[in-house]
Amino acid sequence: MDFSIKTAAPHKLKVGAVVVGVFEDRKLSAAAARLDEASGGALAELVKTGDMKGKKGSSLVAHRLPKVATSRVVLVGLGPQAELGDSAYRAAVQTAYQAVAGTGAQDAALYLLELAVNGRDTAWKALQAAKEILDRDYRFSRFKTQPKTESANLRHIVLGVEDGGKAEAQRGLQAGLAIGHGMSLAKELGNLPGNICTPTYLAEQAQALGKRHGLKVEVLERKDMEKLGMGSLLSVTQGSIQPPKLITLSYQGAGRKQRPVALIGKGITFDTGGISLKPGPEMDEMKFDMCGAASVLGTLEACARLRLPVNVVGVIPSCENMPGGRATRPGDVVTSLSGQTIEILNTDAEGRLILCDALTYARRFDPEAVVDIATLTGACIIALGHVASGLMGNDEPLSAELLAAAETSGDRAWRLPLWEEYQEQLNSNFADMANIGGRPAGTVTAACFLSRFSKGLPWAHLDIAGTAWKSGKEKGATGRPVPLLVHFLMARASRQGGGGARRRE
Ligand code: BES
Ligand code: MN
Ligand code: ZN
Repeated sequence: MDFSIKTAAPHKLKVGAVVVGVFEDRKLSAAAARLDEASGGALAELVKTGDMKGKKGSSLVAHRLPKVATSRVVLVGLGPQAELGDSAYRAAVQTAYQAVAGTGAQDAALYLLELAVNGRDTAWKALQAAKEILDRDYRFSRFKTQPKTESANLRHIVLGVEDGGKAEAQRGLQAGLAIGHGMSLAKELGNLPGNICTPTYLAEQAQALGKRHGLKVEVLERKDMEKLGMGSLLSVTQGSIQPPKLITLSYQGAGRKQRPVALIGKGITFDTGGISLKPGPEMDEMKFDMCGAASVLGTLEACARLRLPVNVVGVIPSCENMPGGRATRPGDVVTSLSGQTIEILNTDAEGRLILCDALTYARRFDPEAVVDIATLTGACIIALGHVASGLMGNDEPLSAELLAAAETSGDRAWRLPLWEEYQEQLNSNFADMANIGGRPAGTVTAACFLSRFSKGLPWAHLDIAGTAWKSGKEKGATGRPVPLLVHFLMARASRQGGGGARRRE
């Protein structure tokens, strides 16, 4: 899909379709009113028939209006004007895309940037439009021998904007495209099955991403991890014949002295649970257990496309969690890279075991902030469902930044507490800590475990178990939380603006 920005009046554009909004109770948007005027009242006439009442999610295609250059005018219902907020705007974009994709149009112009959306600027509206459309346009067709051709007609989207708004719209469009492409990369990797997307494959993809954008990529092998003493990470990979990888990628968008943000992504390419084997139903979905890793790669892709003036280091611990003769047993005690010992009471709580060593490893980059992203606990789905990612951390300003990014991006997150009182659930009679804290507050105790490896680092943790993929008929990776992470980094980039406070001495 290609995108461009145009300032032409809606009735003059020679495109396959022009999309304009109608508010509930049949009130025309400004662009619709202009089209109506040009066509001598044709739209008002149409709305009067009651075929388009402006209900959210509704759409109507009108053909060959008089004195209008396009052959199709698509009316999109916006709902009540006063209620047009972030999510109603996104819904309007989705409806517009769906309606146009259902016609034979090869290109379409959307006049939605002019809508007043609770104070959002033109850049935000352009960003959301491009991101939503790329999101909808994504198909995983790699293994379909006869790919479906639906919606293949539509190739080009024009975002119509008023005079003077072009530069701002362009800026938003670029960000939306970068986020959309980052999400596509994350989805593609997430959707690949465990027999293809192995730790080795992830490492290759990281190398390829590095080549595309000039990132420095380094991959540690099992023997390197042994030398370093990553006993916790290594305990997870023991039952698998797939070699583990610890992947690091450095994106240098700012000066050398600027300390990086470290993004750590859980990269379990398949999680059987190990000896604490998972039950059979839906176990296939554990191929998505590397979506944290995929979101780190997707975010780096977006940063590089945007040439964001920030430094980011991605750290991806990757392995497979399998049962077998060599697999870790419940009760085994291991020594992490930090020196702290862990009693593994449940081999299915493996994400924290690879993340803790990655957190310790990340200290060598002297990060200004550390964010880990992981499909960590089923309990997070119980707490927040599939709407919000769980956010926890040890640094108020960092958590606030992430929450703000979640809000602006629409890629929601919500905080859970990390109070000291929860820590005792991790007590062990045989080691410094256990790797599980029992059923109560499972998402929080998982974060408590990680917090023991994040001391002195401004750190936050995103549990994306409920948001990284969809189950059921629409099963597939979502590309979340790439939008959240890119917004977080964009905000940092504009705050630091190449100079800035927290520099390395
Ligand atoms: N990858 C899973 C978490 C998960 C489960 C995400 C289901 C999405 C859907 C993780 O490795 C895991 O198995 N966690 C256990 C932890 C428990 C043993 C303390 C869980 O949530 O059951
Ligand atoms: Mn598990
Ligand atoms: Zn897992």
